[in-house]
Parts: sequence; structure tokens; C-alpha cells
Amino acid sequence: MDVLSFLFICCKLVLFLSESSFASDTITSSQSLNDGRTLVSKDGSFELGFFSPGSSKNRYVGIWYKNIPVKTVVWVANRLNPINDSFGFLMINKTGNLVLTSQSNIVVWSAYLSKEVQTPVVLQLLDSGNLVLRGEHDGDSETYFWQSFDYPSDTLLPGMKLGWDLKTGLERRVTSWKSFDDPSPGDFIWAIERQDNPEVVMWKGSRKFYRTGPWNGLRFSAPSLRPNPIFSFSFVSNDVELYYTFNITNKAVISRIVMNQTLYVRRRFIWNKATQSWELYSDVPRDQCDTYGLCGAYGICIIGQSPVCQCLKGFKPKSGGYVDRSQGCVRSKPLNYSRQDGFIKFTELKLPDATSSWVSKSMNLKECREGCLENSSCMAYTNSDIRGGGSGCAMWFGELIDMRDFPGGGQDFYIRMSASEIAKGEPTTKIVVIVISTAALLAVVLIAGYLIRKRRRNIAENSRETDQENEDQNIDLELPLFELATIANATDNFSINNKLGEGGFGPVYKGTLVDGQEIAVKRLSKISEQGLKELKNEVILFSKLQHRNLVKLLGCCIQGEEKLLIYEFMPNKSLDSFIFGLDPSNLKIFS
Ligand SMILES: *[C@@H]1O[C@H](CO)[C@@H](O)[C@H](O)[C@H]1NC(C)=O
Ligand SMILES: *[C@@H]1O[C@H](CO)[C@@H](O)[C@H](O)[C@H]1NC(C)=O
Ligand SMILES: *[C@@H]1O[C@H](CO)[C@@H](O)[C@H](O)[C@H]1NC(C)=O
Ligand SMILES: *[C@@H]1O[C@H](CO)[C@@H](O)[C@H](O)[C@H]1NC(C)=O
Ligand SMILES: *[C@@H]1O[C@H](CO)[C@@H](O)[C@H](O)[C@H]1NC(C)=O
Ligand SMILES: *[C@@H]1O[C@H](CO)[C@@H](O)[C@H](O)[C@H]1NC(C)=O
Repeated sequence: MDVLSFLFICCKLVLFLSESSFASDTITSSQSLNDGRTLVSKDGSFELGFFSPGSSKNRYVGIWYKNIPVKTVVWVANRLNPINDSFGFLMINKTGNLVLTSQSNIVVWSAYLSKEVQTPVVLQLLDSGNLVLRGEHDGDSETYFWQSFDYPSDTLLPGMKLGWDLKTGLERRVTSWKSFDDPSPGDFIWAIERQDNPEVVMWKGSRKFYRTGPWNGLRFSAPSLRPNPIFSFSFVSNDVELYYTFNITNKAVISRIVMNQTLYVRRRFIWNKATQSWELYSDVPRDQCDTYGLCGAYGICIIGQSPVCQCLKGFKPKSGGYVDRSQGCVRSKPLNYSRQDGFIKFTELKLPDATSSWVSKSMNLKECREGCLENSSCMAYTNSDIRGGGSGCAMWFGELIDMRDFPGGGQDFYIRMSASEIAKGEPTTKIVVIVISTAALLAVVLIAGYLIRKRRRNIAENSRETDQENEDQNIDLELPLFELATIANATDNFSINNKLGEGGFGPVYKGTLVDGQEIAVKRLSKISEQGLKELKNEVILFSKLQHRNLVKLLGCCIQGEEKLLIYEFMPNKSLDSFIFGLDPSNLKIFS
């Protein structure tokens, strides 16, 4: 160290020591923070200071939890430019910028100001973990000249935004540390793709690694987080902003999401007070099927299958053998690329890569179909928003990649097919059976409709009938209620391999209960608007009526959004009796 810089440091130290005491969460423009001193947020949640990661001797300015014994750094200022001694200073310079200097007053890092600064400014560490540069007199107003939340390191904290400020072009992405000892940006990145149909993606270097699927108004197409009591989350996409954010419902819960370069996994943690350690809440990617494009074009990944990669219906492996990333699948029947083509509906799908897709919020599903048919490069379409029965239009152009079977979470998706492929899928040989079973069904439905009307009258007359009594009635009729887990287990998680077919009311799956009983499961997920009790009652009525005419109803399962009817599976019964057989939603027509 030369004399000059030594003097300079002494000077700074003197300046520092001569300062009057300052609020511990704030420094003003006349103050600075040297290595060894820290700022602590008002409620004591977070601390800002100098630190050395792992076994490194380099010094960095960072933010970590103050009230957690395991030192967990959530943000680093000078990721790229460490200080190699303990003479770092963090201060607000004359023009109101936040600068970090090493010895000899070399600026190793400075804040990139988004706005013209009006001095005087102060630097404050907020209880959220956000470090902000604001006007000294701006108090609690959330207009900052700069904030650390706009420049994430490897961690997303509650309230932080992942994504874009479309007005300024600022992109907030989360990047792993290079290693345990080195906070400089690694090659594992979490970001939002700014495209017509935006998606949250993860990159491993320049290679796409994982995607959530587009936002559908409620959630991502293949959500890593479902509605739950701990976290709330939202995705905002408008003219000025495009971001994902999450919150903690209970302020006492401490949680973070971190990109882990060692494991190439994005981990969500919750602090466990009892064990005084971070508890893993979830990992992304979750499984093999989350690997981007694993099954190639027109391949679908189905967890639980072996191999996991299959071809979509109407497609076959390109290489003849098994399906992989490089080969994928090709059409069994070529397209006409005209209005001659049609579409096959797929359900519970993680929608494919939306890089070349296009969205219109004003078009409905029918217009969407027409638009897609008209454009020879349009390969698929669906609603862009699934709320309230679905609205808007999203079309996909070119090859479809990165789809997975996502039971209970995926979406409907309409894929372009040649007319001959569609014709092939339609039942032609079973028409007679359908006619017969439909006639039987009609008869039963009429009787049931009558009974229900009669029953409703009874209920109306006896208005004092309580819920409890209804419950008792269930037991009287001995219609077993199955656990969703039981049925999921029996059908191999509603595996596409076990799918017998698809009726107007949803898909039908074959399954085997643990005791060996073969079952057929009809999944009525689309009629969720129907009242629970109503559905139960109708199902119960049917269980009494229908077994002689059609297949035997073993029970039902109503859990969350899932509504399942479980029938005895009879191999020599026509599939159509399961598919077109009695369905409680028919009753609406007659009652
Ligand atoms: C520390 O960094 C300074 C400036 O970046 C450099 O001149 C010096 O040689 C470094 N010292 C050591 C021990 O690496
Ligand atoms: C304050 O820091 C910024 C960023 O390094 C720099 O552009 C500006 O010139 C500095 N102002 C003064 C007065 O040194
Ligand atoms: C999260 O909480 C903050 C502060 O309570 C609030 O401003 C923000 O809107 C919330 N965000 C979400 C997605 O709930
Ligand atoms: C990544 O995971 C490894 C192994 O569990 C762990 O040692 C390391 O600290 C993690 N890194 C981060 C940044 O959490
Ligand atoms: C498309 O269908 C029309 C009418 O059937 C036929 O004339 C034409 O050859 C077909 N084109 C292709 C590319 O199959
Ligand atoms: C099909 O749509 C794409 C994307 O919107 C567009 O670029 C292309 O010109 C359209 N092609 C036709 C024939 O309309």
C-alpha cells in the first residue's frame, strides 16, 4: 500500500469515526459503511455488510438474514468485482450515487440509477430485504432511485419481481453463484421470456433447461406451485410490466427461492424454527419430464411410463424405435395444410414451448380454430385464459415441443391433424352398441329425472332437512366414497396408457385397485360448477337405478376439483357404456 492510499484510508476512517451516530438501517450522503460495520433493517430481519463467501478471502457487500444463525446471503452487490482487502467502503457520492470503493478510492461497484437523482439521498435497508436509494425526505413512498430488488443475485425473496419493467427495459433475472466460494454469476438462470405468450424459463448457459408453460389466467400450464396456504403468487403481464412474484401469507414464515448451481435446481426453502435449519419446500425441475424438450418434437413425456417419452396420438417415432430429444415424432398421416385438416383435442397437457406462438385476448375458441385452420403454419390452438370457462386465443406455429402429461393441472390443447387421422379416431364399428346403450341411457335418465324432480319436491316440502341429514343419507345408500389417492394409484396417476377413451364428460381410465378389482374411472373434472351435494345426490340415485342396465357403479370420489365416478370394469362390456353411459350431468337436461 502506498503512502497516499494509506493516508486516504485514514482520512476516510477519521471521517467515519467523527460522524454522529446514525439510524442503523440507513446511511445518509455524509456517511459511509466500512468493512466491519453493518446496517440492520428496522425489524431486525436483514443485515447488510461485508462478507467473504465459503473459503474465499475476497470481500463482498451483501445482504443476509440477521435473525437466522445459518449465514444465508440473499444478495451481493459487487458479484463481479471482489475487494481483496478489508478497506472497502460503501457510500453515497457527491452526485447521489451509491458506490463501493476499495483502497486508493477505486470504484469497484456502483448502483445504476434509473432516474435523475435529487439530492439529498439516503440508503436504507428495508424489512423486506430490499436495499433502496431514496430521497431523504421521501419517507415511505416507494419511489426509489435504485433498489437491490431490481438486481437479483441467486435468490428471489417474497415481494421481489422476476421479469421486466417494459417501460425502461429493465430485466430482473435470478442467476446462480458460480460456486459456493464465488458469487459471480454462474450459468444457471431463471428468467421470463418476453414474447407474445410469455413464459417463465430456466437456462443452463445458452440452453433452455426448463419452462413452466404459459400463464393461463390462473396459474402456469404446468405449475410448480399450486394454490396453498403458505404462498400466494401472481403473474402480471400488461403494457408496462411483465413479472412473476410470490408472497408469504403468514408474515412469521421465512422463505426464499435460490438457484443452485451445484445441483442445477431451483429450490424453495422455508426456515424451520424448531430445527433451526432451512427446510426444502420444493424443487424445480421436479422430475425427468421437466427436462426441456426431452421427448423432441411432438413427443409427450409421461412420468411413470417406461420409457417416459411417447408420441402424441396421431404421431409415431421418427426413428422407428424409441422417442428421444433428437428424433421426436412425426405424423402418421400427413397434413393437407388447408381447411381440409381438423384438430384433435388433448387434455391435461403442459402446453408446448410458446416461443412461436401468438395470442389474441379478444378471440374466442371458435374463432381461434378458424384462424388456425386458415394459416398453414398454425399447428395448434387453445384458450389463452382458462378462467370462467375459457377465453382468448393462443396459436402455435411450427413444431410442438416440450409437452408433458400433467394430470390435474394441464390444459386442453387442440392439435392440427389430417382429416383421415381424425376419421380414424372416431368410433365407426361400435355405432350399434352406442345406439343401444344410448336408448338404455335415455330410459334411465328419464326415470331418474322424474325421481329427482319428485325428490326435489320432497326436499322443498321438507325445508328443514339439514346437511347432516344429507350426509346420513349418503351412508344409507352405501355409495362408497373413494380417496383420490386410491384412484390415482389404481390408474397409475391417470396415465395416458390407462386411458380407455374420452367421452363428452371427460376421459375414462382403466385401473386396478389394490385388491385386484378392475375398475373404470370416469373423470368429470369439467363440471365443477355443479354443486357438490347436488352431484353426490344424483350419483347416489344412479347407483340405485343403473346397475342392471349398464355397468355397476362402485362409488365416487369428490376431492377438490376432481369428481370421479368409479365403475366395475367388465372386459366384455363395450367401452362406450363407460364413456357414453350414465352421467350425472345429463340430468340437468331433464330436471
Ligand atoms: C488487490 O487488488 C488491487 C486492485 O484491484 C491490486 O492492485 C492488488 O494487487 C490486489 N492484491 C492482491 C494481494 O491480490
Ligand atoms: C458518483 O458515482 C457515479 C458512478 O460511479 C459516477 O458516475 C459519478 O461521477 C460519481 N460522482 C462523483 C461526484 O464522483
Ligand atoms: C405481497 O405483499 C406486499 C406487501 O404486503 C403487497 O404489496 C403485494 O401486493 C403482495 N403481492 C402479492 C402477489 O400478493
Ligand atoms: C447447492 O446445493 C449444495 C448441495 O446441497 C449445497 O452444498 C450448496 O450450498 C447449495 N448452494 C446454494 C447456493 O444454495
Ligand atoms: C389437399 O386436399 C385436396 C382436396 O382433397 C387435394 O386435392 C390436395 O391434393 C391435398 N393436398 C395435399 C398436400 O395433401
Ligand atoms: C401465419 O401466421 C404467422 C404468425 O402470425 C404469420 O407470420 C404468417 O404470415 C401467417 N401465414 C399465413 C399464410 O397467413
